[in-house]
Amino acid sequence: MELAVKNLNLSFVQGNREGHALRGINLTVKEGEIHALVGESGSGKSVTSTAIMGLLPSPPAKINSGEIILDGNDILSLNEKERRTIRGQKIAMVFQEPSKYLNPTLKIGEQITEVLELHLGMDKETAETRALEILDMVGLGTGKRILKSYPHELSGGMKQRAMIAIAISCNPSFLIADEPTTALDVTLQLQILKLILNLRERLSMGILSISHDLRVVHDISDRVSVIYAGKIVETAPKTELFSQPFHPYSNLLLQSIPDADKRGSRLVTIPGKVPDAENIPSGCAFHPRCPYAMDVCRENDPEMKPCGEKHFAACHLTDNRN
Ligand SMILES: Nc1ncnc2c1ncn2[C@@H]1O[C@H](COP(=O)(O)OP(=O)(O)OP(=O)(O)O)[C@@H](O)[C@H]1O
Ligand SMILES: [Mg+2]
Repeated sequence: MELAVKNLNLSFVQGNREGHALRGINLTVKEGEIHALVGESGSGKSVTSTAIMGLLPSPPAKINSGEIILDGNDILSLNEKERRTIRGQKIAMVFQEPSKYLNPTLKIGEQITEVLELHLGMDKETAETRALEILDMVGLGTGKRILKSYPHELSGGMKQRAMIAIAISCNPSFLIADEPTTALDVTLQLQILKLILNLRERLSMGILSISHDLRVVHDISDRVSVIYAGKIVETAPKTELFSQPFHPYSNLLLQSIPDADKRGSRLVTIPGKVPDAENIPSGCAFHPRCPYAMDVCRENDPEMKPCGEKHFAACHLTDNRN
């Protein structure tokens, strides 16, 4: 089984203004694979994940073209009721902010059993037993105490684990993790990453892991895709992307990883910023910031072309390779 986004074009329309947030996104997550989607703030990572989840309000969101294929079916053609079933049982998502996701007025136990009763039709007692198993799986195994706790009674790390527990309660085939670690300190980040790796093994879930931090990506992913201004500009197996990045943007992103061995070493920041979806530059959207920009880059938007084993980049420099 795989989850595949195919040539997805999505705009936000407000009055006569249109922001091209996703411009032909192609992305595949295979069963049991961790696929990382990386890019600076505003590049379209969350729009991609919420589009997959079917959680973007329309209007203002408008899908202009494309497909999202799950189990061979285009889920964009399903109605809201069918989408909801998929959301509960096939694809789950954990968000940047657990406090926004957890319901502050319901005990953690109630939030998990509610999902189990609603989606899997379990009775209350079965659901509670299952909830305890799930809490144990995410490392909240002090059992009944957590079940009866409200979100505000938990620490940041425990909230993350509780949110993951709710997300995996129906045994989804795919998990989308939109920067689940940024709000946590480094030790907790590592624990959550280990948990995600462990869950991938146990549940053989495919995971789309979204981050702007390449260090996180380096530790957990199998494949990495780099997104810029709503378009995937490079995709490669992790080791290949880290050792032989092709796209100048990926290169600069890699250089901006702080070196853990050199304390206090300065980050290389990429000059300029991600263009707004309403003002995408002509040609290659990265050309105004690219140190290698040529005339052709201002005129033509490059297509994805192979530049290695299972490695593709959208850059006119691929034309000069032989
Ligand atoms: N509801 C919306 N209405 C209009 N434009 C939007 C909306 N949501 C996102 N956008 C635009 O889409 C683009 C991509 O935003 P997105 O939230 O996906 O970025 P991101 O990569 O997740 O950034 P971050 O790392 O900060 O989370 C931005 O230009 C943003 O302004
Ligand atoms: Mg985001």
